[in-house]
Amino acid sequence: LNFHANKERRHILEVLFNGLRRLEYRGYDSAGIAIDDSLSPLHSTSSPPPLVFRQAGNIESLVNSVNQEITNTDLNLDEVFYFHAGIAHTRWATHGEPAPRNSHPQSSGPGDDFLVVHNGVITNYEVLKETLVRHGFTFDSDTDTEVIPKLAKFVFDKANEEGEQTVTFCEVVFEVMRHLEGAYALIFKSWHYPNELVACKRGSPLLLGVKELDQDKSNNHVFKDAHFLSKNEHPKEFFLSSDPHALVEHTKKVLVIEDGEVVHLKDGGVSILKFERRNGSSRPASVERALSVLEMEVEQINKGKYDHYMQKEIHEQPESLTTTMRGRLIRGGGSRKPKAVLLGGLKDHLKTIRRSRRIVFIGCGTSYNAALASRPILEELSGPIYREDTAVFVSQSGETADTLLALEYARENGALCVGITNTVGSSIARKTHCGVHINAGAEIGVASTKAYTSQIVVMVMLALAIGSDTISSQTRREAIVDGLLDLPNKVREVLKLDEEMKDLAQLLIDEQSLLVFGRGYNYATALEGALKVKEVSLMHSEGILAGEMKHGPLALVDENLPIAVIATRDACFSKQQSVIQQLHARKGRLIVMCSKGDAASVSSSGSCRAIEVPQVEDCLQPVVNIVPLQLLAYHLTVLRGHNVDQPRNLAKSVTTQ
Ligand code: G6P
Repeated sequence: LNFHANKERRHILEVLFNGLRRLEYRGYDSAGIAIDDSLSPLHSTSSPPPLVFRQAGNIESLVNSVNQEITNTDLNLDEVFYFHAGIAHTRWATHGEPAPRNSHPQSSGPGDDFLVVHNGVITNYEVLKETLVRHGFTFDSDTDTEVIPKLAKFVFDKANEEGEQTVTFCEVVFEVMRHLEGAYALIFKSWHYPNELVACKRGSPLLLGVKELDQDKSNNHVFKDAHFLSKNEHPKEFFLSSDPHALVEHTKKVLVIEDGEVVHLKDGGVSILKFERRNGSSRPASVERALSVLEMEVEQINKGKYDHYMQKEIHEQPESLTTTMRGRLIRGGGSRKPKAVLLGGLKDHLKTIRRSRRIVFIGCGTSYNAALASRPILEELSGPIYREDTAVFVSQSGETADTLLALEYARENGALCVGITNTVGSSIARKTHCGVHINAGAEIGVASTKAYTSQIVVMVMLALAIGSDTISSQTRREAIVDGLLDLPNKVREVLKLDEEMKDLAQLLIDEQSLLVFGRGYNYATALEGALKVKEVSLMHSEGILAGEMKHGPLALVDENLPIAVIATRDACFSKQQSVIQQLHARKGRLIVMCSKGDAASVSSSGSCRAIEVPQVEDCLQPVVNIVPLQLLAYHLTVLRGHNVDQPRNLAKSVTTQ
């Protein structure tokens, strides 16, 4: 946060804490904050060093310890600042356990000359550390980040020794960047440069939000050259964040910072610089960038009437699915206008995709499961494919490091890269050649729910689009379009199982493990259902391909171990029936998910609890079938007393390798 205005310390703390709360889903094992001690005169180092607070645990423990400190030290919350530069960070540990000394801001040492918050991983930190130790620096943390502020101090001191009194904050940061390897989004604050912040990035996402404090001057502001505050300028507040959630309540005007760029905030003004090669030597030059407008509402990132984000997001699925399909399904009108799909983001590339030799889908976690769920319909409708490859990158956040690396590899090797993401402007959305936004709305619960079902719908629509020139599959495609149109209603119906799933959760509350058997379209449902249960309720759960049952899993079956079998009606139904028989024969403790009307028959030869779900077109059944398992995972978690929205050790988007 950087501004020029009359603002109280109370406001500064509130903005920074709220920003952290909005980003907490990305990491929540420790947090920290650095603000100015007292009113700092313009460009003078006569002011006292910044105040730094760091704490293990979640944001609220940081807030409590800062409040405590404020009370102990009589820090004045009403003190007014005309300029201020504050930074804050919430951490998901990569190097070093969650502890105050490993929390960010990391410091250059006593006096906090340079402070840094970092998202990413510095891969060459050991070499840098050795060099800095040789130059007399001592290290207090186990983090990779600590080398960054120390390197900044080293660069600053060296420039001053050499008499370069005028070394600017940006020059220091450019020099630091030259030595860093790995991925990072960084914000620097320095006692030597009061009222200034410098941020830069490579690999990890970074956004700049701009808020005009007096009145809205223009919507299409273009930042050119050193755009610093002049007398006639309206006061501004600037925000830097890893994602839009922390910005949207302040402003919708943002700049997506590109790799290699350096953002310089000073006294409520901004300039963006990048190294440019000119006449054989490279020097920083200012970059002209236009603001874009965030398509996100604050309400989207609030819990509304729900207790938890995961619960809200499960129940939002009829609406999120409708939004995913809005404007993309052609309802048809007789033989002249067949039912079909329209994916605007792919229209210039569909021919290439169709002619691909292979289509490869890349995704992690739930996005991987969504790709797995849609694979059979893609294989069925796309028929033989040839020539070069198409790689489809599936990612809710659009920032997953492993998926991004695969994207770079695919691009380098000439594949057509298609993105399927929920985040407009994300790295994957920007780096792919074309793509489809799933439009499921902000998903904040760490366990992915509504993004999963929307991803499947988009991939089914992709299959329809690829197969749209094949006459022989037209009836099948039209049946799927009908199925899609009715899908939100079917999901609304299956959500009525909420209470039933709560009862089931009550029965399973003390279990050690839950197996989930599926096959065909619903093998992915078994994997995803088990992933939901294990990631939030912390109960061991395993998704198992039912066809593999006899090759090991059967040994686990007894009267105690709960086993969920997905046996809704599709081409695999009879095979699943025989799995159920074999499990009954071994007195297995079964929970069977079946189509409406099948409850009696699945439990005829043994005791079992049946969950009846509406039947839909086979390739859409995974969308319906996952919902009871999401609800089960949710209720199990609440009943077992764990954190639903922020499960232990996990983070919403894994932006480090
Ligand atoms: C993390 C999250 C999961 C998510 C996975 C992939 O593991 O906890 O919920 O499915 O990353 O994330 P993406 O944003 O690429 O879909």
